[in-house]
Formats: sequence, structure tokens, C-alpha cells
Amino acid sequence: MNQFQFELQRCQGLIEVNLASYFTKPAPQQKLLDAMRYSLLAGGKRIRPILALKFCEAAGGSLEQALPYACAVEMLHTYSLIHDDLPSIDNDDLRRGKPTNHKMFGECTATLAGDALQAAAFETILTAPLPAEVNAAAGLTLARAAGVLGMCGGQQLDMEGENRTLTLKEVARMNQLKTGCLLKAACVMGVLAAGVPTDDPMVNAAEHYAKAIGLAFQIRDDMLNVTSTEEEMGKPVGNDAESHKSTYVSLLGLDKCANVIAQQTAAAKEAIQGCLPDVDFLCDLADYLAGREK
Ligand code: IPE
Ligand code: IPE
Ligand code: MG
Ligand code: MG
Repeated sequence: MNQFQFELQRCQGLIEVNLASYFTKPAPQQKLLDAMRYSLLAGGKRIRPILALKFCEAAGGSLEQALPYACAVEMLHTYSLIHDDLPSIDNDDLRRGKPTNHKMFGECTATLAGDALQAAAFETILTAPLPAEVNAAAGLTLARAAGVLGMCGGQQLDMEGENRTLTLKEVARMNQLKTGCLLKAACVMGVLAAGVPTDDPMVNAAEHYAKAIGLAFQIRDDMLNVTSTEEEMGKPVGNDAESHKSTYVSLLGLDKCANVIAQQTAAAKEAIQGCLPDVDFLCDLADYLAGREK
């Protein structure tokens, strides 16, 4: 194992331990808590929280300082996956290698588990042991990334785009909102956790890095939907083509997709070089995501 892989695993471990500490207090609504923990602790690559932790560190803070924000962004992401899998949206049965939340707990509880994870994300930010104005800025960042002009808006465009051929520009816009915004929020929240003001050039560098890896991340996801297996991905594959969805792969083909990923990964690394004190891990992470197999 090289130094990058070791550090990646260390961060993943830190995140797992911290996420496991949430929603443990018994309540009459035990089934709801169980449903929230079921999806939150089902695994997942933890890319968003890792970005939050490592951007905090790269900007001069500690990993620990960013932990509440890291957990919050993963809660919000998990909520988005639970709702995305619902019968009324993608109607999927498998997520993170396990039956989807609604398959385990029913549609009502799954919907509420998503809702409650979203609320918990903001509670976690607002109660983090950082200055109140930093928490407010982080909360605003996540709220904007999750809303109409972010993830939810992207999901709406995704749904409206079904069964018609989209242009590359439309696909790019949809993905930027659906996937890119939350990745960007994770990076920016990490920088903010380090005590960096919102108008600092480091925030701008984090945004540029995130935009590039976000595009590469989604293209890689589209490629794996064609080339990988359900076992490897822990979620259904082949469904993009089945539902005649416009994706980077359907519009560009696999080879061109690989080229765009390489370009965007280089752009991501360039965006942070010289802008943040320590970018080695983040550069390695961009490379790792470009070649990810799940
Ligand atoms: C899945 O995100 C949804 C997309 C935005 C493509 P991830 O690939 O980060 O999923 P997990 O968190 O590892 O399960
Ligand atoms: C999920 O999008 C991204 C969200 C905003 C929840 P997709 O529907 O394209 O991704 P998978 O294949 O279910 O992970
Ligand atoms: Mg979807
Ligand atoms: Mg889906």
C-alpha cells in the first residue's frame, strides 16, 4: 500500500467511526433511526467527507476540525441516494451493495429517513465546535448546493430528460447540478472549517478543483454503468442504456470519455497547485477518482 492509499484508508476509518456515533440515542421512532443508520453506515466510498477533511488540512486546518462538516455532507449525500432510489424516482433495489432503504423499511420510512438525514446534516453543521459565523457560512454553502440551483435541481432536470436525447451541454449542466454541486460544497466547507474567509482565493481554487473532478467523476460513473458489474458497483448497472438515457458515454463514446476525464483531472490539479499550502493528497485523489473501478 502506498502513502496515498494508507492516508485514504485512514480518513475513511475516521469518517466511519464518526458517522457511527450519530443517531444512537434511543427514541420512540426507533425504526426511523434504524433506517437512517442503515443507509448512512452501508459503506460508500466517502468521497465527499474525504474532500472536506483534506481540503481543511490542505488549507492549514486539522482533519478533526472538519469532521462535523464531513459527516454533514455525507448525511446529505446519503439522503439524496435514498430518495434517488425510491420507486417514484429511479426505482432501484440495490445501493452500496445492499437492498435499498425502501426495500428494507418501506417507502414511507425511507422518505422520512432521507428527510431526517437532510435536517441532521444542517443540525450537525450548526452545532459544530467552530465559530458561529463559520458554521453559518458552511450551512449556507451546503444549502445552496442541495437546493433548486444544486442537487435537487439537477435531479429534476435528470427526470425531465428521460426518454429524450439531450445535448452534451444539457447533460453537462444536469450533472454539474446533480453531482458537481455537492462535491464542490464538500471542498469549500473543508476550506471554511480551516478558518479561511469565504472570499479567500483558496475557496476559489477549491471550487475550480471540485468542478473539474465533479465532471470527471460523473463521466467515470457513466462509463462504469456500461463496463462494470452490479457486484463491483454495489448498485445496478446497464440501466442508463436500457432507459435510453443521454449520458457522456451515449453522446461521446467510451474513448472520448476517457480523454475528457484525463483533461479534467489535469485541470483539477492545476487549479490548486500553488493556491493551497499542501496539495499532494488532493492531486493523488483526483488521479485515483479518474481511474476508480467502483
Ligand atoms: C453516487 O455517488 C451517485 C453519484 C453522484 C454518481 P458515489 O459514487 O459517491 O456513491 P457512494 O457514496 O460511494 O455510495
Ligand atoms: C444520483 O444520480 C445522484 C443524486 C443526486 C442522488 P444517479 O441516479 O445518476 O446515480 P446512481 O446510479 O443512482 O448512483
Ligand atoms: Mg437518478
Ligand atoms: Mg439513481
